[in-house]
Amino acid sequence: MSVSQERGKGIDWSAVLEAQGKERERHIEKLVSGMSLGEKIREMAGTTNPLRLAVMLFRYNRYPFWAGGNRRLGIPPLRFTDGPRGVALDHSTCFPVSMARGATWDRRLEERIGEAMGIEARAQGSDFFGGVCINLPRHPGWGRAQETFGEDPYLLGELGAAMVRGLQKHVMACAKHYACNSIEEARFFVDVRLGERTLREVYLPHFKRCVDEGVAAIMSAYNRVNGDYCAHNSHLLRDILKGDWGFEGLVMSDFIWGTRDAEKAALGGLDIEMPNRRYFGRRLKRAVVKGRVPEAVVDEAVTRILRTKASFAAGGSPSGYTRDRVACKEHVALAFESARKCIVLLKNQNGILPLAREDLQRIAVIGKLADRENIGDSGSSRVRPPYIVTPLQGIRNAAGSIEITYDSGKDLSLAAKAAREADAAVVVVGLTGRNEGESIPYMKMGGDREDLSLPAASERLVRTVAAATDRCVVVLEGGSAILTTGWQDDVPAILIAWYPGMEGGNGLAAILFGDENPSGKLPVTFPETNDQLPFFDKKAKSIEYGYYHGYRLFDRERMEPAFPFGFGLHYTEYGYSNLRLSAQEIGRSGAIQVKADIANTGSMAGCEVVQLYIAYPVSAVDRPVKELKGFTRVHLEPGETKTASFEVKAEDLAYYDVDAGGWVVDEAEYIVYVGSSSRVEDLHLRGIFRVSGT
Ligand code: BGC
Repeated sequence: MSVSQERGKGIDWSAVLEAQGKERERHIEKLVSGMSLGEKIREMAGTTNPLRLAVMLFRYNRYPFWAGGNRRLGIPPLRFTDGPRGVALDHSTCFPVSMARGATWDRRLEERIGEAMGIEARAQGSDFFGGVCINLPRHPGWGRAQETFGEDPYLLGELGAAMVRGLQKHVMACAKHYACNSIEEARFFVDVRLGERTLREVYLPHFKRCVDEGVAAIMSAYNRVNGDYCAHNSHLLRDILKGDWGFEGLVMSDFIWGTRDAEKAALGGLDIEMPNRRYFGRRLKRAVVKGRVPEAVVDEAVTRILRTKASFAAGGSPSGYTRDRVACKEHVALAFESARKCIVLLKNQNGILPLAREDLQRIAVIGKLADRENIGDSGSSRVRPPYIVTPLQGIRNAAGSIEITYDSGKDLSLAAKAAREADAAVVVVGLTGRNEGESIPYMKMGGDREDLSLPAASERLVRTVAAATDRCVVVLEGGSAILTTGWQDDVPAILIAWYPGMEGGNGLAAILFGDENPSGKLPVTFPETNDQLPFFDKKAKSIEYGYYHGYRLFDRERMEPAFPFGFGLHYTEYGYSNLRLSAQEIGRSGAIQVKADIANTGSMAGCEVVQLYIAYPVSAVDRPVKELKGFTRVHLEPGETKTASFEVKAEDLAYYDVDAGGWVVDEAEYIVYVGSSSRVEDLHLRGIFRVSGT
């Protein structure tokens, strides 16, 4: 027996890896019991030293952050890297930001993107990826809304789970930031106050969905929830995550200010402090020695960490993670595919889009963003791809013999002249990392938007160009909703390209010229005015999160948004017919199958995102007018009809009963809608079923 095996009571890491199931758990238990308190606590923190941390401020995320690891026992460290628009290490593929990918409503695409990121992370020395950001943007002006998939818990959960599925073929995935992290500038101190029902039904279901998908880790948020910092919050971590949901993985803190107190964090349920040990080092050891933290709490954390490492240790195919997989041809093609699919066509009067190449001799591309590499903010999600195709380059690449002129838009008279002298004008305006994004105190970057309007100069530019030509196409860039009121009636066509990644310009051009039929649908409501939105204070020390936000709030208050959740136009028409429900009545443990026929009645092939909403005409409690409970993408050739199928489980219709401390499915009638957006006129098909009995 080796010395290490003796100290580890006969068990070392290789023995853990060889075992499976219950035997592995027993081996981990033995291994942990053979570790000294110091060794155990070393598993519970990042190992980035202060010097490296200082360097990191300037070369943030250029190297993986390590945590734990034990040479004596052969336990490897975790090697963390970030996302979510790609792998934050050098030269990775840059995909459209998550909000853009939310607009694709494409689970399979997201899974493939997750796989690509997993491979690229692994090829760059990382095995732990922190880019599954699934916070719900209660207000679309949240600076990091671009990192998440949209405003709806179901959409967030489905796409988050798809990303986890893809990633975990290669690396451990971490879903973040648990929970209620949705005000950037106040993130280090704000106390989000909310009721249990709101927490469970609105802010947590997507985390549960990722836990059910087997996500390896959860990152606690910086902010407080109902008084306690998330990393200390035993209600969130112990009662709900590890208790009710049976999560067996590990919980890590957000970086640097994510942990504030050794005792509270350990007792609260935090397993790893990142990225270095400030509290989970000497302070935690003292707390254990003095009896303030039972050693069993440390053992539980270490058990989770080792269990997680062990279950992923054998993953993937180690010889396949070569450097040439980073930004390889296949991944770049995937970035291009997602850039094409994420663009949402918001307005297209008189079918001025697509631009027919044969009808045009000159197109004026206008606006400084047209010529700028604009792929998102510069915070922890920053990706540095080998190249970025700007809108201008993309349009030039695809224009064929059409002459493309460019004007920055700085001088309005020159912009108007350029537009007048062309057959069509494409104006690119929007936001950059200066307007929105992750923010760090004292550094001028990112932050929240209390006002969703475009910068005034951009609005002036749009109006000027619109007055100069009747073929003005406005392309918006940004990570979330933007107000279009005030200028939207002046222009015939508007689309949003978000921050579309390294292939964004090519994706945009494919849509403009009709090489691709737009299929994106808004994952977030675009309001008409700022005051339609929930109260937002980016410096709030404490804030109340109510039950309603997004389309649920618009429905309830009967407000008209500028563009509703789920909305997006195409270059073809889709017809909806023939709704079929598998039963008129199901039990509370049952499920209903819903089918509808979708036909492409236009002349161009395309994809329709078919959405299923449920309404609650009768309920024991106040409920949203309707909620998204299903979606699917259907590809249709002209003239083709296909059936979209969904399954809705009765348990998906439950509400959280605070008094009973559990989920309740009303015995009642439910309305099912199938349609093309959340707008009433777009809910083309309607059926009714009943839930009763067991
Ligand atoms: C961010 C996290 C990120 C971490 C490490 C923090 O500032 O809030 O989202 O994972 O940095 O990059």
